[in-house]
Amino acid sequence: MFFIVVLLALVMTSCSTSDNTPNAQAGYVNPRTCEGCHAGIAASYRETGMAKAFHKIDIEEVPGQTFTHEKSGRTYQFVKREDKVFLRRTEAGGENAIEKEIQYVLGSGNHARSFIHRTPQGRLIEMPVNWYPEDRGKVAMSPGYDRADHMDMRRAIGYQCAFCHNGYANAKGTSLLDDPVFEGDLPEGIDCQRCHGPGREHVAEGGRGKILNPKKLPAARKMEVCMQCHLETTSFSLPNSIVRFDQKIFGYNPVNPLESFVSHFDHAKGGKEEEKFEIAGSAYRLRQSACFRGSKEELTCTTCHNPHQKKANVDAACVSCHKQIAGMEKHPAKADCASCHMPKRRTEDVIHVAVTDHKIRRPDGKLDLMAKREERHEVMGKDSYQGEVVSYYPTTHASDLYPALAQVIHQSNLKKGVPRLEAALAKEQPKEPAFYVHMAQALHASGESAKATGYYQKALGLDEKFLPALRSMGASQLRAGDLAGAAGTLEKTVGLHPGDSLAWLELGRVYRGQKKLAEAARAARKAVELEPELVEAHKLLGVVLEESGDRVGAEAAFRAALAEQPDEAECRGNLANLLLTKGDAAGAEKLLKVAVVSSAAARFNYAVLLAQQKRYDEALEQALGAPRSVGSLELIGNLRMARREFRLAEGAFREGLKLEPGSGRLQVGLGTALGAMNDFSGARRFLTLAAQGTDAGAKAEASELLRTLPH
Ligand code: HEC
Ligand code: HEC
Ligand code: HEC
Ligand code: HEC
Ligand code: HEC
Ligand code: HEC
Ligand code: HEC
Repeated sequence: MFFIVVLLALVMTSCSTSDNTPNAQAGYVNPRTCEGCHAGIAASYRETGMAKAFHKIDIEEVPGQTFTHEKSGRTYQFVKREDKVFLRRTEAGGENAIEKEIQYVLGSGNHARSFIHRTPQGRLIEMPVNWYPEDRGKVAMSPGYDRADHMDMRRAIGYQCAFCHNGYANAKGTSLLDDPVFEGDLPEGIDCQRCHGPGREHVAEGGRGKILNPKKLPAARKMEVCMQCHLETTSFSLPNSIVRFDQKIFGYNPVNPLESFVSHFDHAKGGKEEEKFEIAGSAYRLRQSACFRGSKEELTCTTCHNPHQKKANVDAACVSCHKQIAGMEKHPAKADCASCHMPKRRTEDVIHVAVTDHKIRRPDGKLDLMAKREERHEVMGKDSYQGEVVSYYPTTHASDLYPALAQVIHQSNLKKGVPRLEAALAKEQPKEPAFYVHMAQALHASGESAKATGYYQKALGLDEKFLPALRSMGASQLRAGDLAGAAGTLEKTVGLHPGDSLAWLELGRVYRGQKKLAEAARAARKAVELEPELVEAHKLLGVVLEESGDRVGAEAAFRAALAEQPDEAECRGNLANLLLTKGDAAGAEKLLKVAVVSSAAARFNYAVLLAQQKRYDEALEQALGAPRSVGSLELIGNLRMARREFRLAEGAFREGLKLEPGSGRLQVGLGTALGAMNDFSGARRFLTLAAQGTDAGAKAEASELLRTLPH
């Protein structure tokens, strides 16, 4: 749910133009329709968290505090103007303020409220700060944001969040590979039909028509009505579930078995994930408890909960199975069973929130259930879970397609998963193009890019307009250096999907690679026009305009990018350079000084600027804090030379040469450092290498130095 870091170009995809109103088609009615005849139930349901899970913001809910996040150096403040609410963000020093309107709130506030900005394109953006009642009603960072380089005002709410937190919306996309874009009015809260199924028939016949009453379902199916939203094995990379590709995103009707819609997966048994405790895990934890396992599935959510009511009816439920407790001599209590056996506990994925643990068990005094924790951030395929992904619900599948897909989709088990998915595809020959796109992406991730193309073509053979395949194929051709191929694919893509900002962006990158600067600028402008909040598009436009000599245009584009994303280090650096060439050194310094709070990468740019101004000590301090790269190590080496720290300079140049053994500039640096320490043969060796290299500047410098070197 929260922390999956995915390659934007690979996965962000979108926008079929078809009018997709699955709910009206499938017999759903306006949820208000039910209130007329079921007034009592409707009134008590309105008080529950589920009914309030998504709603238009109410002025009363607007937090008063101003909140400063130290790691990113940004300050957030809620602003009320006329009858609208905005979140205002400023950087350290009060710079770079922007405001976004908050139209919606996600979360009843039982545990949290997330503030949502809806863009003109129909994306829902989660704001970086949440309100948490448990942390004494404080404003704090949203889940996943407690880091210097957080997503600020750019993280889109996916279709999956909306699936669990609301009535069915109108999705513009048709699959989870599509961009999460929502059309028309949004529902406000989880409505009756999410548990009772579409109500048109029932209503049309004045309440005598059919409607699902979960009470009449067998126990396991009764629980599935709740598990569609309350079963999340984990919100970290795995994947915890895959919605079947032959289903619409908001197409689940609870009259059908859950497995006809979605498969759930889990970590392999025996690992450190065994005891995980996360926010949307009530069903997962309940299913682990002795009460559930020992009562042959007769224990369901409705044993204790009436979903139309706020309060659970717990003691009576416990006692109905544990009658002997009443007479148990040693047992400490006869009431309030949950307080000892189902305590609240801090969750691992939303660290400011504690919820009831549904794994009913003997109290364990040793565990500190409320212990504060640091937020965990993972990069998929790097420090995310590595191991087998096992089928959890259902536990077995008729074909291996989805289980095999689960191994690769978050790169948890790539090595074994790739051949397994290839075999399953060959055997089952599914008709949904999404399978083949995932296969191609998995091949990419495991370094077999050449094989990927065939799978993209297979996907396009099934649906030649399939945007996720087109976009993803173009992006991988670009990365593989096949510019002509990428241009062909992406020109076709924007022809078929002219409103797709990300395809235009990718096409702009390709044109830039082909040195067609005017076309590149046009494509970048198109992307900006379609989606003014797309940072990458502004950035590309700035770079291309700068390369075409339009400094004024470039400056405006970089500033627009930085307004959205203050820690975009490359834009900072470029803009600072533009200011320097205009002679505005003070402006450039101000820009970079603020950036280093949240971005280590910006330190390099700042160090260069300081070095240019001969402020060597300050420059060295910044350069040492920047990520190690050939550039930063060369700078450190040169600054050490300026301070006559020759031994340390040598170290920096040598470290740089490990990263890029053929770098002429580093060879010159190292030669100079050795020469300064009277190691003339060493100096000669590296200067000669540079003089024979391909870097013209380094070559000239090295030849010059060789001439002055004593024998
Ligand atoms: C699998 C379904 C599911 C998904 C996906 C999901 N959530 Fe949740 N979320 C839940 C459930 C269930 C709870 C309530 C847990 C509880 O109270 O024990 C919850 C709780 C919350 C709360 C606290 C609400 C309150 O006051 O109790 C917030 C805020 C929230 N989720 C935001 C999000 C966001 C943002 C996303 C997408 C990034 C998301 N959720 C994805 C199921 C889901
Ligand atoms: C979160 C799921 C959920 C939602 C939302 C929900 N219900 Fe129910 N409803 C149930 C379940 C489960 C039962 C069966 C309860 C039981 O087993 O006793 C039920 C039972 C009922 C019944 C039958 C009552 C009975 O005694 O058998 C009616 C009528 C009903 N719901 C109406 C509504 C209306 C109207 C709404 C919207 C205002 C609504 N429900 C919202 C889950 C839900
Ligand atoms: C015109 C009045 C009317 C409307 C509108 C209406 N109902 Fe009913 N509903 C009834 C009547 C009458 C019954 C049967 C009497 C009873 O058991 O209470 C009933 C029964 C039910 C039951 C129990 C069915 C069973 O098999 O046990 C559920 C669940 C239910 N309604 C849900 C809904 C939902 C959800 C909506 C809105 C989509 C809705 N109703 C709209 C009148 C209505
Ligand atoms: C459409 C998704 C969805 C379905 C279906 C669903 N829930 Fe929920 N439920 C949620 C979310 C999301 C929350 C947290 C809402 C919030 O507080 O913002 C929640 C909260 C709750 C709560 C916390 C108390 C409260 O005030 O609401 C209980 C209890 C609960 N659900 C029980 C159930 C039961 C029992 C069922 C099945 C009959 C069920 N839910 C079905 C999504 C769902
Ligand atoms: C549907 C029946 C049912 C309900 C309701 C139920 N339990 Fe249980 N519970 C069981 C069964 C069956 C076992 C397993 C007994 C065994 O294995 O000997 C059990 C085991 C336990 C255990 C021992 C757990 C362990 O790990 O050894 C505790 C404690 C417990 N229940 C407490 C509760 C409490 C508290 C509630 C209410 C919140 C509750 N139960 C509700 C059926 C139930
Ligand atoms: C044995 C009794 C029992 C069963 C069965 C049970 N719950 Fe609960 N549930 C509780 C208790 C106790 C609480 C905390 C007190 C309260 O909210 O009234 C709770 C709270 C919740 C909450 C709110 C969590 C929080 O702390 O805010 C959610 C969500 C929830 N239950 C969902 C479910 C779902 C979904 C199921 C079925 C998978 C389920 N519960 C089954 C007893 C139960
Ligand atoms: C004040 C805390 C507390 C409350 C309240 C409480 N219990 Fe317990 N319960 C315990 C402890 C502690 C044990 C473990 C005793 C042991 O391990 O010998 C226990 C053990 C149990 C067991 C397992 C007994 C066995 O056979 O080994 C069950 C079942 C149980 N409780 C049910 C309940 C029910 C039902 C309620 C509510 C009526 C309840 N408890 C309320 C603390 C509590």
